[in-house]
Amino acid sequence: MSRFDDTPITTPMSILHTDRLRLEPMRPEHLDGLHEMNRIPEVMRYITGKPETREQTLQMIERVMARWAEWGTSWWSLIERDSGRIVGAGCIQYLARDTANPLEIGWRLHPDCWGKGYASEAAQVMADFAFAQLKAPLLCAVCHVDNGASARVMQRLGMRLKGQERWYDMDCHVYEITADEWARSRPQDA
Ligand SMILES: CC(C)(COP(=O)(O)OP(=O)(O)OC[C@H]1O[C@@H](n2cnc3c(N)ncnc32)[C@H](O)[C@@H]1OP(=O)(O)O)[C@@H](O)C(=O)NCCC(=O)NCCS
Repeated sequence: MSRFDDTPITTPMSILHTDRLRLEPMRPEHLDGLHEMNRIPEVMRYITGKPETREQTLQMIERVMARWAEWGTSWWSLIERDSGRIVGAGCIQYLARDTANPLEIGWRLHPDCWGKGYASEAAQVMADFAFAQLKAPLLCAVCHVDNGASARVMQRLGMRLKGQERWYDMDCHVYEITADEWARSRPQDA
């Protein structure tokens, strides 16, 4: 019996789609693909600063599954629809994993998938999920002050720079967008 057998499954509502990607709440079958990415130092450079061991990736999946069960939101694996390959990960979670904080959006990609627009594409549907499904009044994002690539994803999403704050033991740029700002930035139906 697997150590995951008691964890409730997530609902179909939590599987998201874009033109090129399928976003699936992380589960044990994603271990190989996620570890393939999280073991790379340049992926983790501005996150924890250290590549993950396989056991750490497995523990991360366990934590994420527990959060999906408790909060109805956490991390997705980003799966390339054409190839079925895990190319990244993205999240809507409480900032610093404290439910007193606003919801945070986040992303990471395998380096051979940088520069294709996958993080921005996934971010659009994750933000929609936060505002439409979770009724978030505000969404924030934080990145290490030197992580320009991540800040550019935040800017492309229409987020505003709020300032510099300390999160996750790092000096971070903090971006945010309100539900009203997000709704105004959406294409209007004819
Ligand atoms: C942060 C990170 C996800 C950004 O990846 P990215 O590939 O630059 O971001 P996107 O997927 O949104 O792609 C945008 C880039 O693809 C290009 N692009 C190509 N085709 C595109 C398309 N169809 N649509 C949009 N952009 C496209 C854009 O021009 C842009 O490149 P530019 O910034 O040089 O102008 C990536 O650098 C990463 O995984 N870093 C390590 C993990 C990390 O630090 N995560 C964030 C922690 S806060």
